[in-house]
Amino acid sequence: MTAEYKVHGDVAVITMANPPVNGLGLSTRLGLTDGIAKANADSSVKAIVITGAGKAFSGGADIREFGSAKATQEPNLLSVIRVCENSDKPVVAAIHSVAMGGGLELALGCHYRIAAPGASIALPEVKLGLIPGAGGTQRLPRVIGVEPALNMIVSGEPIKSEMLAMLPGQKLFDQMAASAESLAEEALALARQMAAKHADGTPKPLVKNLPCKHPQGDAYFQFARNMVKGMSKNFPAPGKCVDAVQAATKQKFDDGMLTEREIFTNLMLTPESRALRHIFMADRAASKIADVPEDTPKRTIESVAVIGAGTMGGGISMNFLNAGIPVKMLEMKQDALDRGVATIRKNYESQVKKGKLKQDKYEQRMALLTPTLSYDDIGQADLVIEAVFEEMGVKETVFKKLDQVMKPGAILASNTSTLDVNQIAAFTQRPQDVVGMHFFSPANVMKLLEVVRGAKTGKDVLATVMALGKKIKKTSVVSGVCDGFIGNRMIEQYSRQAGFLVDEGCTPAQVDKAVEKFGFAMGPFRMGDLAGNDIGWAIRKRRAVERPNMLYSQTADLLCEMGRFGQKTGAGWYDYQAGKRDAIPSAAVVEMIEKYRASKGITPRKISDEEIVQRLVFALVNEGAHILEDGIAGKASDIDMVYLTGYGFPIFRGGPMLYADQVGLFNVVQAMHHFAQNPHDDASFWQPAPLLARLAAEGKSFN
Ligand SMILES: NC(=O)c1ccc[n+]([C@@H]2O[C@H](COP(=O)([O-])OP(=O)(O)OC[C@H]3O[C@@H](n4cnc5c(N)ncnc54)[C@H](O)[C@@H]3O)[C@@H](O)[C@H]2O)c1
Repeated sequence: MTAEYKVHGDVAVITMANPPVNGLGLSTRLGLTDGIAKANADSSVKAIVITGAGKAFSGGADIREFGSAKATQEPNLLSVIRVCENSDKPVVAAIHSVAMGGGLELALGCHYRIAAPGASIALPEVKLGLIPGAGGTQRLPRVIGVEPALNMIVSGEPIKSEMLAMLPGQKLFDQMAASAESLAEEALALARQMAAKHADGTPKPLVKNLPCKHPQGDAYFQFARNMVKGMSKNFPAPGKCVDAVQAATKQKFDDGMLTEREIFTNLMLTPESRALRHIFMADRAASKIADVPEDTPKRTIESVAVIGAGTMGGGISMNFLNAGIPVKMLEMKQDALDRGVATIRKNYESQVKKGKLKQDKYEQRMALLTPTLSYDDIGQADLVIEAVFEEMGVKETVFKKLDQVMKPGAILASNTSTLDVNQIAAFTQRPQDVVGMHFFSPANVMKLLEVVRGAKTGKDVLATVMALGKKIKKTSVVSGVCDGFIGNRMIEQYSRQAGFLVDEGCTPAQVDKAVEKFGFAMGPFRMGDLAGNDIGWAIRKRRAVERPNMLYSQTADLLCEMGRFGQKTGAGWYDYQAGKRDAIPSAAVVEMIEKYRASKGITPRKISDEEIVQRLVFALVNEGAHILEDGIAGKASDIDMVYLTGYGFPIFRGGPMLYADQVGLFNVVQAMHHFAQNPHDDASFWQPAPLLARLAAEGKSFN
């Protein structure tokens, strides 16, 4: 059992001991109920203290039990709390460090609570699309008041114990310990005091017996509901938090508990909660690589060099400066170097102006940056990231030079988006030290980092770069070597499909609107205008040589021939007014598209938003399945993380692969067969990837 039982004189202390955060898994729950039973059976024991070992009281549910039968096996948390409440001997919760979710609910079921200052207190279930499910919505308002409780439950954000202790009339903490160090002693003293108080059989206080009212009653909840609705758009849980807390004010405690349970169970089945729980797990899983053990030794990275001070080089450097890691930034010419440094300065200064960065922090960060024109200055860096022009010849020159100057053991990374990392590695005598670090633009803002694993990349190099990704606050996902890696390889199919939709009758604005209604941050045409339509143009020119049979709509090429590269040229799929980013539908583009259709003999038809979304998203899904099959991505959830953090895929849908799972892979394949009948689409496009076809036939899912 993952809870220790010890008797200190006349007080039994039950210490949850389930690292890392004393999650309330089955064995911890058993430890608690056993401990309470033992204490009650021992006549020498007069009171009970519950606390947590290590760095938490309890962080709540044990995520390792998510989705397993153990999660609900008796004693479940509700039963554990009942056992605490019903204990003949007073039970004191001694809270320190972290009391979240089920951990806080457990404490609320104890007769008394003492907390150390600095403890983070929260009911974060809303972040998983749920509400607290073990009385949190019914008990917390009773001890800190309806409004503060609802704020905590709707936001899920932690509040420090000492702040909560200052709330007028609060009954959450009966006592604040002087310090974390003195908590154990003070908890024992409180327990003894309470044992004496109740020795004559005086009933022990239960949170559930406290009153729960808001002076404005329903009017307040209506106001709260409106506020929450505005902020939580696609997520049902925050609104349901309001319902649950309102129930605490209107119903008897036991009825309120039933309401809470019903809401919790219903939310558990929503696609939004499934998406959020999936993302929570996927985020943790992304850093795990099947054949790279967690204890793989890592190299030390205390200094970084960046080659190229352009768009990416500057942004990449900022990540490390922000993390306190010194950066040497190298360019070929002084003016390019000066421009790069000036851009970094400008970025920081705008943060200072907006109050997001303190002046002294800004200066500290700039002091970590050393611009240079000489390779002699960078040889001692632990990691060098190349971000020069996207041409193999230039990469070759740079990597041959790096091979000469970098110290042994330095990691040599390339930020290339499209080039073969194995070929780049082969320019050096140390391919085991070469890896891709594919940042997304703007590199100081975007969360995603694709870590590209070459055929010879060392496991320690991978482990080091993944850990470093965490340090610079990126979501790092490992990708194998292929054209476009995970993200851009999939987006190419999505863009092709967007082109076919236009050929058949959609306007760019109609496609964008449908996809944005589905929840994407930006539709494919607005995205093209933002990124620059010339990028895709260059790729298609290359494809015409490499894969001459691949069909494309030619509208995007015609657009580029009109010089409409996007926002940077003031015109793309849309028109733009000087200095503004609003996309205005363009008559010239419509005319170009209509002429193109006529030249191909296509009679335009009306296409539903549903078809638009399905064709675009299933294009991603099918390529995702190929990517899994080819071993480019290790798991479907990695692909989801790439799309959620790098491509604006709607969070509440959990990523393309989870979305396909939720639609049902059988249905996805059926839709693909249907699209393949369309004479204006590319029938081979809709050939289901073998993995997708197999999973669909077996009634299985990606995740
Ligand atoms: N721009 C993006 O959205 C994006 C996103 C991800 C990855 N990338 C990749 O990042 C790399 C850089 O792209 P960018 O957009 O920053 O390009 P950029 O043109 O803005 O910057 C490239 C910089 O490299 C410098 N440079 C060229 N050759 C050099 C050399 N031999 N030594 C030192 N410096 C040299 C140039 O002077 C220029 O300042 C490319 O490989 C690109 O594919 C770009």
